[in-house]
Amino acid sequence: MILWSAAARYPGLDPAAVVGLRRAAGFATMLGNRGPGAAEGMRWPVDECIVAVQGVTKSYDAGRVVALREATLHVGRGEFVAIMGPSGSGKSTLLNMMSGLDAPTVGRVLFEGAEPRGRRAWSRIRARRIGYVFQRFNLLATLNARQNVELAMFGVVAGAGERRRRAEALLERVGLTHRATHRPCELSVGERQRVAIARGLANEPVVLLADEPTGNLDSASSESVLALLTEVHARSGATLVVVTHDAEIAARAARRVRMLDGRIVGAETGGTP
Ligand SMILES: Nc1ncnc2c1ncn2[C@@H]1O[C@H](COP(=O)(O)OP(=O)(O)OP(=O)(O)O)[C@@H](O)[C@H]1O
Ligand SMILES: [Mg+2]
Repeated sequence: MILWSAAARYPGLDPAAVVGLRRAAGFATMLGNRGPGAAEGMRWPVDECIVAVQGVTKSYDAGRVVALREATLHVGRGEFVAIMGPSGSGKSTLLNMMSGLDAPTVGRVLFEGAEPRGRRAWSRIRARRIGYVFQRFNLLATLNARQNVELAMFGVVAGAGERRRRAEALLERVGLTHRATHRPCELSVGERQRVAIARGLANEPVVLLADEPTGNLDSASSESVLALLTEVHARSGATLVVVTHDAEIAARAARRVRMLDGRIVGAETGGTP
């Protein structure tokens, strides 16, 4: 590969330039291997990805419903990716694949370079490495807001006092200190969404997958959620993958991936830092 030999020939080259060359070389190799059309989601070589979805098809009802078709998406460490597309285009299904909540019918998903084997491997990764904000929140009805956030920390953060302290700090970050002891049925939809975001951040994830995190918020609340997400991204270097219809969130992402009928049909880069 010409780019590789250039890097080898100039050992004094700036390391950043060598990384750039490696990336370009890896990318060129991938394109060579995968053929036309594969480029949409393949911005990063696998060894620089936090999550890599490769050729994933997901079907339900014995193939009668195909939710995802040959989707390939490589997400780089620390990247901020927005996933966009009409209702039913497969966005939530794609997030479910990226978190191991559901398994591909065809294809594979790599997390930090390796393919997790089975449900237990994925649930360990989800507990420690992934924060997930569900489209329908999935809060437990019998627990209050603080307990819902604490629940995510069981088995990961030792000590009830520490879990409580962290849950309170997270609820403060999403502006819900005054609702900490309310159960989901006593919260507005937007407040439930913010509890779900606090829970998603509970274990300081390296990847936050958020499914329409501002879908139920008024413009002031969605601005504060956007500020929170961008702060998490900037401060902790966490990778963000956000399904959204919100133009402002999409504009902040470094890459926007578009889906249609279960396929990744386009990607564009560049965002407002
Ligand atoms: N468990 C399931 N069984 C059968 N069909 C499913 C299942 N989950 C999803 N689907 C179908 O797969 C397609 C993609 O669904 P998905 O939830 O990923 O869409 P989406 O892009 O997230 O839509 P929305 O914007 O409305 O949330 C839809 O047609 C949906 O009906
Ligand atoms: Mg969805």
